[in-house]
Amino acid sequence: MQVNFVDCVPSLISQIEQNLQKFHPNSNAKTHCVDLKKLDLLQSSMPEEGKHLVIIAGVGGELMSEFISNILLNNQGIAIDFILCPVNYCYHLRESLEHANLGLIDEWLIKENNRFYEILYTSNDSHQHHLLPSKVGEKIWQSDDSKQNLIAKEYLNKLLCHYRKVEFGGQLDAADIVRAYEQVKVCEKR
Ligand SMILES: C[S@@+](CC[C@H](N)C(=O)[O-])C[C@H]1O[C@@H](n2cnc3c(N)ncnc32)[C@H](O)[C@@H]1O
Repeated sequence: MQVNFVDCVPSLISQIEQNLQKFHPNSNAKTHCVDLKKLDLLQSSMPEEGKHLVIIAGVGGELMSEFISNILLNNQGIAIDFILCPVNYCYHLRESLEHANLGLIDEWLIKENNRFYEILYTSNDSHQHHLLPSKVGEKIWQSDDSKQNLIAKEYLNKLLCHYRKVEFGGQLDAADIVRAYEQVKVCEKR
């Protein structure tokens, strides 16, 4: 397995290089200072077997959708799994996964430092994925215990408050988003 770190900011990439040399001098990890929208997976790494896994975190759902559509366009015919952790606009991201024909393998909801994160494990490999991504999510609302149930309820409440404000502000698609989140039922798996 080869790990490739990508960012478009040179100082961040050189920091990662220094850390790799200091803490993991024998690793075969590589760094790339490129615009993710231009990522060429075959040039940056070539797994002889296995497949590519692209992990994108820390950017908004709309920019993430642009990254994904460009990566798919620039790397046609290659099986790619994605693990995605956007900082916001998950509804828009999920909508774009549907348009990009990406299927969902799994999804999780976590709360860390008082912030909520949806994590989506998705793939363009039809042998691998089992579900069509729902625009609001499915598994993230089904919790294993009461703690996770509370996290899901808090998150749903936060989303509804946000999109109701946006709807009130007159944004066109916000009403559909509010209606979609109003249909969500948080439940505990038995
Ligand atoms: C908030 S940071 C998140 C960093 C890291 N992914 C994480 O989760 O800790 C967002 C990063 O996205 C990078 N970024 C934004 N647009 C990019 C692009 N077009 N190509 C590559 N990196 C980009 C920024 O330089 C920044 O370092």
